[in-house]
Amino acid sequence: MTRLPETDFPNSDLTAPPCPHFEECGSCQLQHITEEKYRAWKEGQVRDLIASNGLAPKEWLPAVFVSKGTRRRATFTVKRDTEKITLGFNKYHSHEIVEISSCEILSPRLEKLIGILPTAMEGLVHKGTSLDVMVQEADNDLLDCVITGLDETGARQTGQIARLAEACDFARVSFRKDTFAVPVTQVRMVALKKTSGALNVEVPAGAFLQPSKEGEAALVGAVMSALSSRKLGKKDKIADLFSGCGTFAGHILERYSVHAVEGERQMAETLAEAAKGNARFSAEWRDLFKEPVSTRELRDYSAVVFDPPRAGAKEQCQKLSKSSVPLIIGVSCNPATFARDAKILTAGGYKFKTAQMVDQFTWSTHSEIVGVFEKE
Ligand SMILES: C[S@@+](CC[C@H](N)C(=O)[O-])C[C@H]1O[C@@H](n2cnc3c(N)ncnc32)[C@H](O)[C@@H]1O
Repeated sequence: MTRLPETDFPNSDLTAPPCPHFEECGSCQLQHITEEKYRAWKEGQVRDLIASNGLAPKEWLPAVFVSKGTRRRATFTVKRDTEKITLGFNKYHSHEIVEISSCEILSPRLEKLIGILPTAMEGLVHKGTSLDVMVQEADNDLLDCVITGLDETGARQTGQIARLAEACDFARVSFRKDTFAVPVTQVRMVALKKTSGALNVEVPAGAFLQPSKEGEAALVGAVMSALSSRKLGKKDKIADLFSGCGTFAGHILERYSVHAVEGERQMAETLAEAAKGNARFSAEWRDLFKEPVSTRELRDYSAVVFDPPRAGAKEQCQKLSKSSVPLIIGVSCNPATFARDAKILTAGGYKFKTAQMVDQFTWSTHSEIVGVFEKE
């Protein structure tokens, strides 16, 4: 049973969940209510959380809801108990695996893998073990696959990896021992690229991409619209903190100058390579938890965009709150840490201008939020 107490609704709000794995699989908790109720509930949760933190944005912009069937990134667990290989997702807050035969939220390309991966992984997953298989779509729908739990690269493996890549149409397959290890590429058919506005970068194995193209477009749209509310030109420098592969930086670069900061070395290096010879673009590898951009460094920027992981950007917001950067745009996949960080900014004199919910985690209890802050 994955349904949460707070997601129990009166009969009038209920509908038949479209997925046969609902209530077992931990990915979706909200398929059992009508679309109208779902949207109202989800937006209400985010608004209530912001209000309960004593925050009051001047305006809530219309929420964006990303369609089902668009998720371009998934981590499947492929498991072998005895002879049989099964594929599934975790139960809600559990290590137990629920075998799945279909998934409503995945893109058609990823959903198709559910039927192919168990057989294709035959030689790689051993009895009594399980492997996490992360797959994501780069440009031109090319598939990147990172298998966690494997680091062998013997000759026997090589044939099996090639068969896996062929059966699943993977453009690249990498292994990593555990989630902390850097993936080591085993097979690469072609370079995996990601275009974001003016940037076209080679995506490192397992790099962060927004979970859906629609969600990415909504977040980029929100960031660019906030920036265009100010009179800024090509010489104005914008900081893109927690930049990933440059999802925002590439679009910012089309109109302004940009400095991207990213804590994962491979992504930062990819951006630094793209920045070579470009006077309006620079990139830096930096741990923003340990070494946030200082208030003094922040003097260089006309605006700052930050998009941290779920833990938020407390240390960076402490520096930002003391700065005189006129415009700050926060993007977050965790409204709770966002609220904490927003309180730091408002305590430092920033006005909370707009907030917007972007729902790219369809049917889950997770939401994304974009907040715009200004200081006169
Ligand atoms: C939610 S993602 C956003 C990435 C990017 N803005 C995008 O939209 O694709 C958060 C990013 O923060 C990076 N990150 C995590 N911890 C970090 C840290 N301590 N310092 C700097 N970057 C970090 C991650 O590697 C990841 O790329």
